Amino acid sequence: MTEKDTDSSPETGSDAAISRRDVLIVTGASIASAGIGGHGANAASSVANIEAPTAQSAKVRLSVNGVSHLLEIDNRQSILDVLRERLQLTGTKKGCNQGACGACTVHLDGKRVNSCLTLAVMHDGAAITTIEGLKQGDTLHPLQAAFVEHEGFQCGYCTSGQIMSGLACITEEHAQSVDDIRFWMSGNICRCGAYPGICAAVRATAQDA
Ligand code: FES
Ligand code: FES
Repeated sequence: MTEKDTDSSPETGSDAAISRRDVLIVTGASIASAGIGGHGANAASSVANIEAPTAQSAKVRLSVNGVSHLLEIDNRQSILDVLRERLQLTGTKKGCNQGACGACTVHLDGKRVNSCLTLAVMHDGAAITTIEGLKQGDTLHPLQAAFVEHEGFQCGYCTSGQIMSGLACITEEHAQSVDDIRFWMSGNICRCGAYPGICAAVRATAQDA
């Protein structure tokens, strides 16, 4: 194809025909003036005109495993980040950080939640229970002991979330059968595939409760 071919518009053949080069020039100018594309001077000035969000903080009181904490926290912090980064309670794990894996499950005012999706600032005065709050002294909680007995874990990364979710299942009476447990714990993912042991541990603890 020659330079002439590229610039002409054989489909129309009229004097008013718009060449493909004209279209590209006009389109390029529009994109540049709109600041789209991210690399040009126009894009840079557009970004400069957007005000960066102002970080704001608030005082929040949280009772965690029975211990009261008054914390100045960034409004954007999740309960997961407050637990791990402010209170050094790292038993609660960050897997996906977007509500898809259940590794961050804790109990908030008695109900299980994905702590990665829960803003701490919205729960002033709340009571939180994490995996660290389950055992009594040196004695494991019965569900923790059942996980050991039934080999409900391999790498252990999902385990704290599985136990907190399993415990909630028992309280909710959603542990009447293995199928029941599988359904009500479907938000807790185990990449090691330790599901048979997890279900057996939850079922056994439910039966003993
Ligand atoms: S880390 Fe919260 S659901 Fe995965
Ligand atoms: S034990 Fe490894 S992810 Fe569940």
